[in-house]
Amino acid sequence: MGNPSKIVEGSIEFSLGNFDGKLMVYDFPKILVYLEAKGKMLFGNHFKIYPEDEKILFLLSNYFIKDEKNCKKYNIDPNKGILISGPVGCGKTSLMRLVKNIVPHLRQYEVIPARNIVFGFNHIGFKTIEDYGNEGYFCFDDLGAEPTGRYFGKDCNVMGELLISRHEYFLQSKIKTHATTNLIAEEMEGRYGSRVRSRMRQMFNLVCFDKKTRDKRN
Ligand SMILES: Nc1ncnc2c1ncn2[C@@H]1O[C@H](COP(=O)(O)OP(=O)(O)OP(=O)(O)O)[C@@H](O)[C@H]1O
Ligand SMILES: [Mg+2]
Repeated sequence: MGNPSKIVEGSIEFSLGNFDGKLMVYDFPKILVYLEAKGKMLFGNHFKIYPEDEKILFLLSNYFIKDEKNCKKYNIDPNKGILISGPVGCGKTSLMRLVKNIVPHLRQYEVIPARNIVFGFNHIGFKTIEDYGNEGYFCFDDLGAEPTGRYFGKDCNVMGELLISRHEYFLQSKIKTHATTNLIAEEMEGRYGSRVRSRMRQMFNLVCFDKKTRDKRN
């Protein structure tokens, strides 16, 4: 499996903590150093770790490294996925694309805009729901902002259907799903109905940015 405490990016080696051959002890300040450097590589030099985002990064890091003690303390279930919610431009999509890099030895999810899934549905129909409603590992980006799907004159709440399929796989095979959204829980119910919201509660840990978090687009 190699040494999960070391990550090499180009010619630079980052350390995320200490590994004695069996036990990995992560060091959060070191994780932040790596995430800032990796963020600059992925998104450009303007990327930085904002002090106000450290709490969310701490939660996400503990989730992805599966730190049992902190997950328990912050009420995060490592067997569920992450639903990250927050105001426009606060950095949800960037964070979900970024944090998975601290565990390159684990299975990596694909970040897919929900609207792209709906556009796919509009072209090829219900096969799209099969394509994403299976054992793949995805982060649905911007859940709730997608248009209603329409195929051969028939409307479909594509992401709602997809979440129901993903929920079934979650129960059967413990397959996780992550998502980002601008919506709050009640809006989610308005968008997808109570059946979907109830399933979402079961399959996601909710991680919320403060509603006052600044828009990082400028
Ligand atoms: N930590 C950061 N440092 C610098 N720029 C950032 C940071 N996080 C995000 N940004 C920039 O801010 C913009 C918005 O980020 P992002 O798309 O991740 O936000 P979002 O919460 O997903 O927004 P939306 O709700 O519109 O989907 C992007 O241009 C991104 O590069
Ligand atoms: Mg986004």
